[in-house]
Amino acid sequence: MSTHDPAIAIVGPGNVGSAIARRLVAAGFSRVTFGVRAGSKIAEALAELDGKVSASLAPEAAAGADIIFLAVPGTAAVAAAQALGDLRGKIVVDCNNPLTWNQGPVWAPPPEGSITAALQAALPGVRVLKAFNTFGAEFHADPSLGDTVADVPIAGDDADAKATLSALIQRAGFRPLDAGPLRNAAALENMAVLWIHLALVGGQGRDVAFKLLSRG
Ligand SMILES: NC(=O)c1ccc[n+]([C@@H]2O[C@H](COP(=O)([O-])OP(=O)(O)OC[C@H]3O[C@@H](n4cnc5c(N)ncnc54)[C@H](OP(=O)(O)O)[C@@H]3O)[C@@H](O)[C@H]2O)c1
Repeated sequence: MSTHDPAIAIVGPGNVGSAIARRLVAAGFSRVTFGVRAGSKIAEALAELDGKVSASLAPEAAAGADIIFLAVPGTAAVAAAQALGDLRGKIVVDCNNPLTWNQGPVWAPPPEGSITAALQAALPGVRVLKAFNTFGAEFHADPSLGDTVADVPIAGDDADAKATLSALIQRAGFRPLDAGPLRNAAALENMAVLWIHLALVGGQGRDVAFKLLSRG
């Protein structure tokens, strides 16, 4: 894998997937491909990217990728990942949240404990990481707010994969934070619950993101 310019597939070119693509292209990543389903409406997302991102059927995009961002409805995440074919050795970044709604967001994880844990159980030999799930798509597209940048906590069990993703996150203009083992993905999914509550129910609006404060 080229650590400087890895081959990246983004499966699910919706709000999050297309915002990640815009950010990666703006940061100079040149090998970004959308992985789509047959019949998927992709023209608008591609047009916004000025020809700098291509699209192919999701299994084909994943086969050619070192790093795969999965950004699909939470209930579809495991099936969508399994439909990609043999991903052994690749890094899968789980951006998804398992949520229902009852006057506000409610965490509704699968029996494995988080979507990330369910993905890891379904994909042996694949290096699954949780990241990019704790703020709204506006920040995926643009991590800066004044002088500071959004934090991207990463949970997962593979140290090399985390180092690779951290380098990508840094180069893309965010601050990576090692949030510990894959079991902590459940905590990151609950950060999303809190973010959605604050942004959409609590009146803060979508232009907010969590930041770890540090005295140095
Ligand atoms: N929106 C946010 O601000 C935000 C922030 C953080 C995390 N998230 C999480 O990120 C994920 C994506 O959210 P989103 O807002 O981007 O959703 P979205 O706009 O509805 O996009 C979902 C994308 O997934 C594709 N898709 C659906 N089912 C699929 C399948 N079985 N296989 C492959 N692709 C499939 C859809 O394409 P087609 O239907 O056209 O095939 C679409 O491009 C969710 O899990 C959400 O919880 C969202």
